[in-house]
Amino acid sequence: MRKNLCLCGFGNVGREFVRSLAARQSGILADGLDLRLVAILGQGGGIYQKSGLNLAEICNLPAGSSALRSLTGLWSEEMTGVRGIAAAQAHLLIEATPTDILTGEPGLSHFRAAIANGMDIVTFAKGPLVKEYRSLQQAADARRVTIKASGATAAALPAMDVGCYSLAGDTILQFAGILNGTTNYILTRMAADGLAYEAALADAVTAGIAETNPRLDIEGWDTASKTIILANALMKADLDLADIQVKGIQHVTAGDIRAAQGRGEVIKLIGQAIRTERGVEVTVGPVCLPLSHPLSAIQGTAKAIRYVGQAMGEVMVSGGRSDLAGTAAAGLKDVLNLYRRRK
Ligand SMILES: NC(=O)c1ccc[n+]([C@@H]2O[C@H](COP(=O)([O-])OP(=O)(O)OC[C@H]3O[C@@H](n4cnc5c(N)ncnc54)[C@H](OP(=O)(O)O)[C@@H]3O)[C@@H](O)[C@H]2O)c1
Repeated sequence: MRKNLCLCGFGNVGREFVRSLAARQSGILADGLDLRLVAILGQGGGIYQKSGLNLAEICNLPAGSSALRSLTGLWSEEMTGVRGIAAAQAHLLIEATPTDILTGEPGLSHFRAAIANGMDIVTFAKGPLVKEYRSLQQAADARRVTIKASGATAAALPAMDVGCYSLAGDTILQFAGILNGTTNYILTRMAADGLAYEAALADAVTAGIAETNPRLDIEGWDTASKTIILANALMKADLDLADIQVKGIQHVTAGDIRAAQGRGEVIKLIGQAIRTERGVEVTVGPVCLPLSHPLSAIQGTAKAIRYVGQAMGEVMVSGGRSDLAGTAAAGLKDVLNLYRRRK
């Protein structure tokens, strides 16, 4: 089976996805799936080759679409945005653009274009699904295309897969997750090494764990985005950021951590969704957990999610590397699982 892919966004994640595909392409082909990357779209243009791009050549380029301009003959200023998605005539859109969680753009327009063109979607960008989960899913169902979002829901931690496949057939009553590696690292350093919040944050930036502007992580928005997508996908909620309470870790003090330790507790940033009589309620914020709680043992950049199914009971998964290689591989996993089951 041959499937043509169109990658939107050749930044750190997009380029790592190309590397991941290049490294595994022959093995995937041997398994009967011929994945061809036919287009890469950037902001000012992109590259296209109907027979499939030479991945080895692209892997060595620096991130950023300006590097793609060197591939003269393939580069076109037309290959951008919704025009580029339509022109690529691919089976699948890989969305790897930066995300605006308030507007969903630019990914939201890309999603709509892909669905209108009958393309499946594998996304790293959270924005479109945070903003418009229900309408996008309805449009996708109507066009009989599939949206997969492991890359937007803690990536290498198979949070979505466990909820979607392993708990299929059950009713998920609630889940709680440590879904952001940066904030868990900061809280771990504060608890284990007695650091003040500012010192632990500075350490995370120096170690390359936190971005230079880590607001989305530390104020809880990244955790909130992942929690909303999971709740909408797995518990049929219909929520966006305006519907939920979001607290970050920026006001957690060394004194709070010490007080928790004195009570035999740890503080973790938890995204949780609970099914109630009023509907699914989602909250995001620092929570004091007893040491006996399974999420309290999750240290450093590690992530974890614990589901409670009505019939299956507690199911927890933890781990998955919080780096680019793990993120890219999670996107590739979605591509394979999408087409494997259609073989
Ligand atoms: N970094 C991670 O570990 C990680 C993990 C999970 C999910 N994600 C998500 O993955 C996405 C990409 O992250 P990143 O770290 O790769 O970002 P990045 O390095 O900033 O790269 C983003 C790329 O997107 C391109 N782009 C921006 N607007 C575009 C548009 N309208 N059309 C086409 N391309 C556009 C840019 O193209 P130009 O080069 O033309 O400017 C740039 O190359 C984000 O949504 C992020 O939240 C990241």
